[in-house]
Amino acid sequence: MSQSRQPIVIGNWKMNGLEASAGELNAMMAAAAGNSACKVMVCPPTTLIAGFAAKAAGSKVAIGAQDCHDAVSGAHTGDISAEMMADAGAAAIIVGHSERRADHGEADSLVCSKAEAAHRAGLVAIICVGETEAQRDAGQAEDIIGGQLEGSLPAEITAENTIIAYEPVWAIGTGRTPTLEDIEAMHSFIRGKVQALRGDVALGIRLLYGGSVKPGNAKEILGIEDVDGGLVGGASLKAEDFAGIFGVFS
Ligand code: PGA
Repeated sequence: MSQSRQPIVIGNWKMNGLEASAGELNAMMAAAAGNSACKVMVCPPTTLIAGFAAKAAGSKVAIGAQDCHDAVSGAHTGDISAEMMADAGAAAIIVGHSERRADHGEADSLVCSKAEAAHRAGLVAIICVGETEAQRDAGQAEDIIGGQLEGSLPAEITAENTIIAYEPVWAIGTGRTPTLEDIEAMHSFIRGKVQALRGDVALGIRLLYGGSVKPGNAKEILGIEDVDGGLVGGASLKAEDFAGIFGVFS
């Protein structure tokens, strides 16, 4: 991890969390209060963004969204724009999560439009990429990730408005993780690929690892060169676990 890239640990609550979960947010804010070594963000379901953003104002915990529509507004029943997420208090939007790609058939081009929408609304785009187990077994992991980056990255990206998360699909929610060597190799590949595509801006962009990060493996995974933090699902729902992850940076 480079000194110039401040690490960030982001919790993706997915379709979990009710008003009653505010107690976990409070405990996370308390745990993050003394931590100046890394940034902390929680991405709750959309229903909780405004309330959480109000509660977290002035704390060390930022609030993000998990997805958005790529249009500003219009006849898109049930969808929510990046501008609306910003209005609710979100600082960032996850785009291209593998669950969106799989469950909603989101292609790289749509992921790119959503990242552009986040930027248009003044928010950080957290762009996810990841290979399936079959693709890794077939030796295609770098080709797949390289293709996803080519298709999903907006033309104009900066170190401030873009974060890239490498999340091998087979490691999400399974308790399985790649070897430290595999994570290091993929992160190095991703940084090189982004540099080839967009130039030296790649050196300042944070690359997060996601997939079964937990307190027990956070120190070794988040300590890898070119891993600038984590995108955490299951272990971000409970403050004790989440704090045990971002706490490795304090
Ligand atoms: P997990 O999910 O930490 O539960 O594996 C990670 C993610 O999907 O962002």
